[in-house]
Amino acid sequence: MSIKYVAEPFRIKSVEPIRMATRQEREAKILAAHNNLFGLKSEDVYIDLLTDSGTNAMSVEQWAGVMRGDEAYAGASSYLKLEAAAKDIFGFGYVQPVHQGRAAEKVLFPLFLCAGKYAISNMHFDTTRAHVELAGGRAIDCVVAAAKDPSTRVPFKGNMDVERLEKLINELGAQNVGLIIMTITNNSAGGQPVSMQNMREVSAICKKYDIPMNIDAARYAENAYFIKRDEAGYADKSIKEIIAETFSFGDMFTMSAKKDGIVNMGGMLGVRDAESPLVLKVKANCISYEGFYTYGGLSGRDMEALAIGMYEGIDENFLRYRVGQMEYMGAKLDEAGIAYQSPVGGHGLFIDAKAMFPHIPYYEYPAQVLALELYKEAGIRGCDIGSYMMGNNPDTGEQLESEFEFTRMAIPRRVYTQAHLDVVVEALTAVKARAHTIKRGYRITWEPPVLRHFQARLEKISE
Ligand code: F0G
Repeated sequence: MSIKYVAEPFRIKSVEPIRMATRQEREAKILAAHNNLFGLKSEDVYIDLLTDSGTNAMSVEQWAGVMRGDEAYAGASSYLKLEAAAKDIFGFGYVQPVHQGRAAEKVLFPLFLCAGKYAISNMHFDTTRAHVELAGGRAIDCVVAAAKDPSTRVPFKGNMDVERLEKLINELGAQNVGLIIMTITNNSAGGQPVSMQNMREVSAICKKYDIPMNIDAARYAENAYFIKRDEAGYADKSIKEIIAETFSFGDMFTMSAKKDGIVNMGGMLGVRDAESPLVLKVKANCISYEGFYTYGGLSGRDMEALAIGMYEGIDENFLRYRVGQMEYMGAKLDEAGIAYQSPVGGHGLFIDAKAMFPHIPYYEYPAQVLALELYKEAGIRGCDIGSYMMGNNPDTGEQLESEFEFTRMAIPRRVYTQAHLDVVVEALTAVKARAHTIKRGYRITWEPPVLRHFQARLEKISE
């Protein structure tokens, strides 16, 4: 069933030319990049769906804010504006700007995790997992079973499996669980939302066992939109009210503001209770790693743009258009018989590469195969969210098998139009038609010890 594309709730004032290289050029470029899409130059990419992070188009108000940015080292008015916006939207007592999401993780996680401690999450994103491990801890994913079957169309596939969570806490010992992390939306499971009911239940468990809850809140606005649309009792609440209630369950939050904050750089860390001794520790780490606590690695102009973007990102008309893009693509993929994590999530389409390449095992990285084929097909850059990204067991060095093999087509905010999305669907359809002729995947010839997918070199296994 085809669905109507929700027209952009904006018009375009400034444009950036893009060009499609020839197939021959693309094949040479990707080989020179050792089959790693992160190694490509952006000018060699036609439609860049590598990430929705920091790739957003800012508004006229935000660009005007850039000029108003106050670059004072301490107490800048742009910081005060950001602090006011964050307190207004999230209801937290203390908010700390940082330069991006992983900086918040670096500042916060060592205060709760060390060797022998665990973090349990509905799913850790790659950098989040890395920071749990860098702090000495171990990361356990505990998403609901429904998430593991991309074809099961149920709402809130991003939820924590509450029963398993409680079992894990009892098995590990509550004193050994340093953090429970609720990732909203659940990026690795396909941008799938978490319900308010699930937030409530997980929060009750955190209280019962006295374990702090951190919200990994990169896509809080998209999550709120799904709650309003799909969860009983929320249809008449505003997005802002839903966000306030969602955050009411967290003790802390870490946030990459490069997503729903609709900026190109920025992050935040929040502590519910401004009087908590934790605030002093956060400030101390921030001053050492990021910069003074009223800028945390950001320019005044970045904080100013973010304070404005946070309100644009929670506008319901914007969110309807945004999620509408995913729904439009999802309907087209249904017509083409291409499997993806369904229903669609908030920030992209997660194509089920296991379904497209059932004959390629996880250790030959089917989702990376699809990502590379799409680049060769039409200059589209996506990324693997599967075993290639997951990497190795930090204790044994063995390749981990991911629950999913997704090739993610992340959609930057306010950047691409309906026709661009059509090009992506056409390319996916063309790759699917010849998928059976691609018999083997890739092997890694070199990899760094942490977050290998950004830098690893791959070689095609000969057929
Ligand atoms: N948490 C989640 C859920 C994320 O998706 C990301 C980043 C981070 C934390 C880290 O934030 O990049 O600002 O340091 N995700 C990007 C992505 C990179 O492509 O999904 P960061």
